[in-house]
Amino acid sequence: MKTQDLRRAFLDYYRNKGHVVVPGVSTIPSGDATILFTIAGMTPFKDVLAGRIPRKHARVANSQKCIRAADLEDVGLDGRHLTMFEMLGLWSFGDYFKTEAITWSHEFISQILKLDMSRIWVSVHDSDAEAAEIWEKVGIPKDRIVRLGDKDNFWAMGPTGPCGPCTEIYFDQGPSVGCEAGEGPTPGALCRGPGCDCDRYLEFWNNVFMQYNRDESGTLHPLPARNVDTGVGLERLAAICQGKTSTYDTDAFDALQRAVCHKAGLGTARDVAQLSVPDRQSVQVISDHMRTLVIALSDGATFSNEGRGYVLRRILRRAVRYAHRLQENHGQNSETPFLYRLAEDVAQSLGDFYPELHGETHRVSGLIREEEGRFLRTLSHGLTLFRSRAQETLKRAPGHSAQTSENPVFPGSAIFELHDSYGFPVDLTALLCREWGLVPDLKEFDRLMEEQKTRSRAHSKFYDSNEQSFTELQDQAGKKTDSRFVGYHLPPITAFKSLSDADMAAYVAHSKQGDHKLSFAEWEHPADNVLRFAAKDDMSADVVFAETPFYPEGGGQLADKGLILFGETQADVFVVMDVQKSAEGIRHRLERLSLGPAKPWANMLRRRHRFLVDTQVRRAIARHHSATHLLHAALRMVLGDHVRQAGSQVSPDGLRFDFTHPRALSDEELVKVEQCVQTSIDESVNVVTHESVPLDDAKRMGALAMFGEKYDDHVRVLEMGPLSMELCGGTHVANTAQIGSFRIVSESSVTSGVRRIEAVAGHAYDLLARHERQLLQASACILKCSTTDLPGRVEALREQERTLTKRLQDLEGTLHAQASSDLENLAEQLLENLRFLAHNMKTVDTAQAMEGLADTLRQKIRGVVVLGALVEGKAQLLVTIHQDVLKLYPKLSAGDLVRVLATSIQGRGGGKADFAKAGGTHIDGLADALHRAKQECLTLASRS
Ligand code: SER
Repeated sequence: MKTQDLRRAFLDYYRNKGHVVVPGVSTIPSGDATILFTIAGMTPFKDVLAGRIPRKHARVANSQKCIRAADLEDVGLDGRHLTMFEMLGLWSFGDYFKTEAITWSHEFISQILKLDMSRIWVSVHDSDAEAAEIWEKVGIPKDRIVRLGDKDNFWAMGPTGPCGPCTEIYFDQGPSVGCEAGEGPTPGALCRGPGCDCDRYLEFWNNVFMQYNRDESGTLHPLPARNVDTGVGLERLAAICQGKTSTYDTDAFDALQRAVCHKAGLGTARDVAQLSVPDRQSVQVISDHMRTLVIALSDGATFSNEGRGYVLRRILRRAVRYAHRLQENHGQNSETPFLYRLAEDVAQSLGDFYPELHGETHRVSGLIREEEGRFLRTLSHGLTLFRSRAQETLKRAPGHSAQTSENPVFPGSAIFELHDSYGFPVDLTALLCREWGLVPDLKEFDRLMEEQKTRSRAHSKFYDSNEQSFTELQDQAGKKTDSRFVGYHLPPITAFKSLSDADMAAYVAHSKQGDHKLSFAEWEHPADNVLRFAAKDDMSADVVFAETPFYPEGGGQLADKGLILFGETQADVFVVMDVQKSAEGIRHRLERLSLGPAKPWANMLRRRHRFLVDTQVRRAIARHHSATHLLHAALRMVLGDHVRQAGSQVSPDGLRFDFTHPRALSDEELVKVEQCVQTSIDESVNVVTHESVPLDDAKRMGALAMFGEKYDDHVRVLEMGPLSMELCGGTHVANTAQIGSFRIVSESSVTSGVRRIEAVAGHAYDLLARHERQLLQASACILKCSTTDLPGRVEALREQERTLTKRLQDLEGTLHAQASSDLENLAEQLLENLRFLAHNMKTVDTAQAMEGLADTLRQKIRGVVVLGALVEGKAQLLVTIHQDVLKLYPKLSAGDLVRVLATSIQGRGGGKADFAKAGGTHIDGLADALHRAKQECLTLASRS
């Protein structure tokens, strides 16, 4: 039975048993930030299994493409691990249970597939006597029913969620596979049977009896309904039905593996079975990985440096490394990318059941090509570095031999270097180490990575890395210790009179604010609000407050700006230069504005103080932050649900939003997105915040979370009517109408698969519009026309320019002809049939002008022409030789001649026998070069 016949037989059989056959879902889970990929058929049914949403059907069947990268290091090396596989799935949502599940499994494999039942074994959870009894009843002999513990027979998709005991079906592939054949955990010994980590007993069917939901504390709670979740590995089942011991030997992989050999340059009709073991493994790794990449990228994933994108990057880089090895083993050029060309073969092999792959091949292969090319550029240097570090490691461990139990340790610093400079994912280096019998020092590598992170954090922030130590002001027991942001709601703005005009002007200069009317929201704080401070000098310090209305930079939103005034008369005025979260609390970098006598910091900070938050800045930030959420929603609406936030920056001057999308947006898409945001603004939707929502509830509500971000158990959810719901800690407008106007300024690429939009709203939009108007007016003024006539006027000017250029070229041509016939007359007869001309053109505008003249002279003079000139401030030499002369004087060559002459101008050059040029910096040497030319020409000619 072919793989696709098997899939059909399974779905038909279970349709007859009352199952509704539903399509599978994307391998990129939507609305579930807890997993990177769809890892099992049950993933999309998680909430139904947990009883959180009602079932649509009581019995469901499907075939689901799944991606699992947890065992990446084994994939392709043995016959059963795959990163992308299809899972045939069955579900009973509170309907049938153990008896039917087991009886039908048995009937399907014995009656429909007609497997050799003497080779079938089953395992049950050691607490599940009921399942064992049913197996016995349907005819499985008692001694082939094994009881295993939680590790093998309790299934859960993660630490929390629906789970339960399971029963698995195995096919005994015989002693020629696994432990007895010298592979697996106890090579050479008797295999311990189902549950052993070797390949002999191949597990292909799992019936999970989902009875529990596991909470965060690990406690199991019975589910309201008992469910069955069945998963069958299609590729493994195909191997069994086709009498193969490896999934890679089935029809599903046949054509693809041939294509790998062919495209790697190993020959068209290469039979994979005839390759050496390492080569076969390489072909297997490549085939598996390309299936995964094509499926995941088609489903909207992209390569990146974190989360899912990084898993795909690791998979691609592993494939590239095996491709490199395969090609080197066969003397092929391993520097040219070819994996991307396999996208169409993957689409061919899976396209019957997943026809959508065909339409994606072009795009997907483009993504792979870029990624493959990028890694290939550093791979061989990285491998050289690895080899040399590995040899050093082995040299340092001279006593090491195969008998020594401890392998030498490959240094973490080298793993780090390979990662940092050559893009080697750590698992790739680990794999190389394994081949060399080395143990990678992963602990040291992790430490170095952490150190690097801290370094770049320190650099990216305002604060210096060589921190001053903090003075505690609240060290007595019972005092406040936490610092928190309390400024979501601005108090009403009061007329503010405490600052002199000079101070106001100084604030504007200090905080680099544009020319706007200042207004502040004020908070009065009694004494004792400062927790700790670190003073740099009399003028500046970092201060941590227990409560602050200044928003610390976070979630992409920049910090608030403003002032803090200390003392009863508020004579000590400080500008808040920056606000950052840190281990010490929310740190404010303060710089003294008033020039009064400096006071001891500790005394001053203990006094009453007043916070003045710059409301213009705060509002401008809020407009951009809320606009960012609307933009996110609009992008998902216009481009699709694969769009996810990949980063953002919200400032008073504009917003920047990075998101996953495989290609540039068309003008039409950009207009649609812009209009969509503007409509949401015009609809005047209230912005509602839900404080302290349990994370799970927030996700259930459909709130968008930033991928790969760690969130607290309780989160803040921001809702803008039906348009947008996101987890967010930022400050926002109260109603979308306050955003005013919105405009996209640019759209660009960040990295492969990630795009960036920059946009402005509100006041920033007005500024931009004003600036553009000024530009237009200035241009119109220069061109002496109205702004509406500008395009026509510019077009007319371009036309004029084209006509003038053409006339100029014609004139140059005439001059050229004149010059060349003058020069022709200057050529002398150097030898028989060899004329010679060396001429200093002094200064010419372009190299093309010089080449044009040389070309004309070459036609006219049967001999050697040497021209020298200054072009753009550099000395240039040009040599041409007539074809007839080259035949008579075979040792003469323009290339050789120009190389010799180039020494005079301290330059280098070269070219062909009939045409060559050189450039140099020593302009005074030009005359010497032309002077030497005749003699050098004679020397070369006389060798002929
Ligand atoms: N969820 C189970 C598995 O993945 C059965 O479908 O094995």
